[in-house]
Amino acid sequence: MLLQVEDLRKRFGRRVAVDGVSFSLDVGEIVGFLGPNGAGKTTTMRMIAGYLEPDDGRVRVFNIDVAQDRARAQQRLGYLPEGAPLYGEMTPWTFLRFIAETRGMSKDKARVAVRRAAQDASLGEAIERPIESLSKGYRRRVGLAAALLHDPMLLILDEPTDGLDPNQRTSVRDLIRRLGKERGLIISTHSLEEVEAVCTRAIIINDGRIVADARPAELAAREGGLEAAFRTLTGGEKAA
Ligand SMILES: Nc1ncnc2c1ncn2[C@@H]1O[C@H](COP(=O)(O)OP(=O)(O)OP(=O)(O)O)[C@@H](O)[C@H]1O
Ligand SMILES: [Mg+2]
Repeated sequence: MLLQVEDLRKRFGRRVAVDGVSFSLDVGEIVGFLGPNGAGKTTTMRMIAGYLEPDDGRVRVFNIDVAQDRARAQQRLGYLPEGAPLYGEMTPWTFLRFIAETRGMSKDKARVAVRRAAQDASLGEAIERPIESLSKGYRRRVGLAAALLHDPMLLILDEPTDGLDPNQRTSVRDLIRRLGKERGLIISTHSLEEVEAVCTRAIIINDGRIVADARPAELAAREGGLEAAFRTLTGGEKAA
């Protein structure tokens, strides 16, 4: 099993962000995390990736407990956080080399890994420009390349296609499908169409809890479309 998540919980002050999330993931699965703004998707992903400590519950990546052995777990996973990468004055090339070297790759290995990841994320000539001068979509691609650098088996991508133009969205979806054949992926998105197009499984989160976990087509058939399923299961807006 690639990933086991057991009863994860997190609160911020009195606000319960994640309220007992459990699921597991196998190689070949592409899970779409769906849910309204503030549902707890990002918080769950940060805990799985080892960047936020849960109040309770457990995450195991290849049977490695993330709380007990974070560094080793993180070698096996790639994480694309929400928003843009830091170090705006660096170029993607320097930034990615820096990340590769902090991950312990030799200079030669780092160079090869950066080239491959940059190609997968279609960075093109943007690789030579300061990150702060890049458009939102290109910054997103830099983050994606950083997540792919060490060729991890588990990828956790928080809104990977957010801000991308339609061509680039298609190419990232193709990449996700390709990666998903031999790895496990969790992507969050607000696009139901994207879930139908690339995900083998949809997990709907509402108010910090999983309210559905099924194949997108099953969910759609059961509720008269994925949009109807989303509406019924999440029941309107939650205050941010
Ligand atoms: N660092 C934080 N401090 C306080 N509250 C937080 C923090 N991070 C998240 N929250 C709260 O936790 C809840 C879940 O937020 P989260 O970012 O996980 O939602 P989300 O499902 O990713 O939403 P979106 O679709 O807008 O990205 C929200 O109520 C949010 O305000
Ligand atoms: Mg989020």
